[in-house]
Amino acid sequence: MLTLLDRQPLVEEARPSPSLRAEAVTSGYGGVPVIRDISIAVGPSEIVAVIGPNGAGKSTLLKSLVGILHVTGGRVMLGSDDVTNRPPEELARRGVGYVPQVNDIFEPLTVLENLEMGGYLLTPRKIRERVADVAAVFPALPPMLKRRADKLSGGERKMLAIARVLMLDPRVLILDEPTANLSPKLADTLLKEHVKRLAAVGKAVLMVEQRARAALEVAGWTAVLVSGETRLEGRPADLLRRRDFEELFLGAGPRATPDSQLDQKENDEP
Ligand SMILES: Nc1ncnc2c1ncn2[C@@H]1O[C@H](COP(=O)(O)OP(=O)(O)OP(=O)(O)O)[C@@H](O)[C@H]1O
Ligand SMILES: [Mg+2]
Repeated sequence: MLTLLDRQPLVEEARPSPSLRAEAVTSGYGGVPVIRDISIAVGPSEIVAVIGPNGAGKSTLLKSLVGILHVTGGRVMLGSDDVTNRPPEELARRGVGYVPQVNDIFEPLTVLENLEMGGYLLTPRKIRERVADVAAVFPALPPMLKRRADKLSGGERKMLAIARVLMLDPRVLILDEPTANLSPKLADTLLKEHVKRLAAVGKAVLMVEQRARAALEVAGWTAVLVSGETRLEGRPADLLRRRDFEELFLGAGPRATPDSQLDQKENDEP
């Protein structure tokens, strides 16, 4: 793995101490490892982005961190507690919110019911308070509380998926491709306004992002995952300064080419 220690500026702002940390995590499916020895950390108010080509193991990594997938090597730490292979509900209860790449909302339910489901650990009174809180984060949501979730556009749907997870007020937010299927404009708004604001209020945000350039713009730290291994990681500015960055990217496949991330997908229809 390449690191960028030789390129660090003399005065470097320290990264926060991690809220969630993977230490040499290995996991996969049916006993076959898909990701190997992955270490990654995210701390309060930090945005960490994981980028890389299709099939690199990005979703596998996130699922391993939140207890959906069995970790066969290494460990997952939440603060100073080892939470390796703890069930997803426990991680949710302990402040880790996860928005999956697919099946991120309950389509037959209304927006409000989705939010209520997200607050399943709370009292009815607290649920009402939290709905008001997340509505403040996503002001577009209140007018559509009674709408069925399957009638939402791509952008509205993603907002709801994140809002649903925010119901439990997580300290750590794990997002798998939050801008998938969004127009470039909506993707920009989601990352540069909403995700940045969530980090600004103290949340640790670890996200997999297909739009590499946009990810590098908002993240404080970025890891490039290729074939289940960390190929490169560092501060985005340092990554972009590397002359071989695009070359490495190109080697990683067309989907990981930064410019291709400003992609043509403009599917924001319901
Ligand atoms: N449920 C599964 N059972 C078996 N293999 C799987 C399963 N899910 C994913 N894989 C395999 O694991 C590898 C990594 O998949 P993963 O979904 O983690 O990639 P990814 O980096 O998230 O890709 P994408 O950018 O397409 O979302 C792929 O080879 C994939 O085929
Ligand atoms: Mg994925």
